[in-house]
Amino acid sequence: MKTEGQSTAKALQQAWQTGLLDRTNDTAALFVDWDVLDHRLNFLREEWPQLEHAVAIKSQPHAGVLRYLVQQGFGLEAASLEEVKRGLEAGCAPHKIVFDSPVKTREELNWLQQNTPGLLVNANALEELPRHPQKPNYRLGLRINPEVHTGSPALFHVSSNASKFGISLTQRAQILDALRTYPISGLHLHSGSQITDLPAQIKAIRLVLELAQEANAERQQLGLALLDWIDIGGGLPASPWDGMRRYADEFFQNTTPVERAQFAWHTEFGQWVHAHAGWTVSRLEYVLPRTDAASVAYLHVGADLFLRDAYTAPRPFPLVPLNADGTPNANTQLQPYDIAGPLCFAGDYVARKAQLPELHEGDWLVLLETGANAYGLWSRHCSRTIPAVLGHRPSTGEVQKLSDRTDVNF
Ligand SMILES: Cc1ncc(COP(=O)(O)O)c(C=O)c1O
Repeated sequence: MKTEGQSTAKALQQAWQTGLLDRTNDTAALFVDWDVLDHRLNFLREEWPQLEHAVAIKSQPHAGVLRYLVQQGFGLEAASLEEVKRGLEAGCAPHKIVFDSPVKTREELNWLQQNTPGLLVNANALEELPRHPQKPNYRLGLRINPEVHTGSPALFHVSSNASKFGISLTQRAQILDALRTYPISGLHLHSGSQITDLPAQIKAIRLVLELAQEANAERQQLGLALLDWIDIGGGLPASPWDGMRRYADEFFQNTTPVERAQFAWHTEFGQWVHAHAGWTVSRLEYVLPRTDAASVAYLHVGADLFLRDAYTAPRPFPLVPLNADGTPNANTQLQPYDIAGPLCFAGDYVARKAQLPELHEGDWLVLLETGANAYGLWSRHCSRTIPAVLGHRPSTGEVQKLSDRTDVNF
């Protein structure tokens, strides 16, 4: 299920008519598509029965979205103590929050000890373990790096032997020793984002599972409590949307019911949940012709919202041109446009040579599939205001404001 271009036009016009957006001052706005989000959440529930899903906060940290996820029964994955607190504020019970950070301070761990009984905390390094209390009120996990390349692009690949995340599986003896010494109850892996090699990911999961089984065989003899949870992280790309079905099928085919029953299983998906469930709209402030090259259309969002895209490689966001009155631009004669952002540096482009109908100053451009790793990466460069965020449910036509346009707070 995807957001239809037609429905974005309706939502924008409705937001103007009802005063949720000011046509002059709201030069850009972000929308959450609740129908698409529901579709993704239902898919997770159905394809991964009995697993606990903690959706990665970093991929879409808006308070309104976090509250919605919690109301739907989902947990949250936090990459910082600040995100843990955002999760709690959204109403998430501590036992449904997973805390992963490579730089946990002693003060943060003290705070967790006092305030969040039952929370899952994944230690990132053997060196982190002595910082944890001997009797944690939270559940302590250990992040393992199985050193299996699951096809993530270099920027998101965290499973090489040079990774800053987790303890390499090649340190098996030290890991088993740490499991005997510290109050660890679970194991964690997260291979990277944009995983393309599912069999490799399954291999990584099996390596961690077999490590847990080996540790448990020993723990049983020693009379120690068994490891009882495994957190397989996130990392699936948003497209193709049913890649999640193949991942779940592979997981269930390559683990036995007995193995699955030995542990509580957790996931931490981010962009697969959110990417297609959000879209952005901006007014075209200028459309400038260029000789012998694509014309340039200037948006009110660019590298400030699509930070990774501007500084690495832009994601191919589908573009929907709207007329100045918010109706779809139905012109079928296309020409190339470079889509520029508003920041004062040369690299601020969202797309190059996009084929679009003739555009004019005052038209609007919708960028679909911008629900993940955009709002949460907002950059202060050039101090521009953060656009208003709205929710839209195309199936009922409902549109509501989730947050106002806000100044950045230096
Ligand atoms: C530990 C951890 N879990 C989950 C995620 C979410 O990954 P994705 O958005 O690719 O599903 C990330 C992303 O950086 C991560 O670092």
